[in-house]
Amino acid sequence: MVTNLTAVLQDMDRKHHIHPFTDSKSLNEKGVRIITKAEGCHMWTSEGERVLDGMAGLWCVNIGYGRKELADVAYQQMLELPYYNTFFQTSTQPATELSAKLAEITPEGLNHVFYANSGSEANDTIAKMVRWYWNTKGQPKKKTIISRVNAYHGVTMAAASLCGLFGMHPQFDLPLQGFVHADCPHWYRFGGDMDPEEFGLQAARSVENMILSLGAENVGAFIGEPIMGAGGVLVPPASYWPEVQRICRKHDVLVIADEVICGFGRTGTWFGSEQLGIDPDFMTIAKGLSSGYQPISGVMIHDRIADTLVDIGGELQHGFTYSGHPVASAVALENINILQREGIVDKVGAETGPYFQARLRELVDHPLIGEVRGIGLMAAVEIVEDKATRKPFDGSKNAGMLVREEAWSRGLLVRATGDSMVMSPPLVMTRADVDELITALTQALDAAEPILRG
Ligand SMILES: Cc1ncc(COP(=O)(O)O)c(C=O)c1O
Repeated sequence: MVTNLTAVLQDMDRKHHIHPFTDSKSLNEKGVRIITKAEGCHMWTSEGERVLDGMAGLWCVNIGYGRKELADVAYQQMLELPYYNTFFQTSTQPATELSAKLAEITPEGLNHVFYANSGSEANDTIAKMVRWYWNTKGQPKKKTIISRVNAYHGVTMAAASLCGLFGMHPQFDLPLQGFVHADCPHWYRFGGDMDPEEFGLQAARSVENMILSLGAENVGAFIGEPIMGAGGVLVPPASYWPEVQRICRKHDVLVIADEVICGFGRTGTWFGSEQLGIDPDFMTIAKGLSSGYQPISGVMIHDRIADTLVDIGGELQHGFTYSGHPVASAVALENINILQREGIVDKVGAETGPYFQARLRELVDHPLIGEVRGIGLMAAVEIVEDKATRKPFDGSKNAGMLVREEAWSRGLLVRATGDSMVMSPPLVMTRADVDELITALTQALDAAEPILRG
């Protein structure tokens, strides 16, 4: 039974709103859920349902909902200077201060930032900068970018071409030329009987094989999320990243770390690169940069790249109206201040992250769960029909979607990526929130099992 307000909004939405990554036809039959407010780690619907947001929105509300400080900063900035651009010899105080702050908190050498509004735009910018860099270096053939199967990097033409979730390509005749995909380093699905660390080295070698078959003189860069997010929270073996890093340096291939999800504390350190042994030339940041309170993203550029691009002179023929938007920058700055002031990242690394991972690993014994994986406050549990053989359920059973709905009806939002239940809660989650999540998820799995096996 839906209330009048819900019905009215659902009807308007059905008539006028095209949703991202959604089958509009089937959504219109079901009707949207209207989210009306949120506080901390919980949100409420127009029907009064209280739901634990196990995804922090879309992996982004790192400091949790309802932080008045961010609203105050945005309000003050709007009164003082709601907009000015950063194009023609101008900047604003928030954009400039945020740049210095980002240079301070990101890994060594990443001392320059270019702003955009979304992760996709930032990755698109990097795809252009890779071309610019190698053109500047007098190596105009060195342009192909190697990504990976199951990678997610966004939706612009270049970012979608980088994606290795191949369902994203046919509608738009993608990928564009010059974007290729190496193996996915997910041991559970692709490693078979191999030792995980040996498999990690093999997956890294697939990058080298690709470089060699294309010719290193044609390969400009390699891009990877430290831990793949939308692909299903795929944590690579520890051997993987250092070997990829070594291979890229050996062949003079730039390394791009897409930290859109992993950045700003998600993995228990400020950036995933620090934990996984990555020394990136470019780093993509978004989401947790402002905890989703304002749309803002950035490309962090290492000194060794920026020096070439800056010293050579010549105007950069690229930029967005809202690059370094003062309100978004002010909010991002305050968001980082809160993360620092409240020691949120350290807490994820030392306390809530390990507790969350330990509690989730109790589900290893659940009859439906083949693998539990994750680090810090990002994780997935993968549903299988047969644990011994890792065989998934037949696709027609829609196991992931079933568990997602069972979880929702128990007051928990988790996402289904295929049959992996994916989680990325706000970083301010308490132990009690973790317990609430585990209880609801376990009950959802228990409820789904007889239906799936029936
Ligand atoms: C790793 C990664 N890169 C890029 C993007 C694209 O970001 P946006 O949706 O802000 O364009 C995402 C979004 O989920 C992401 O997870």
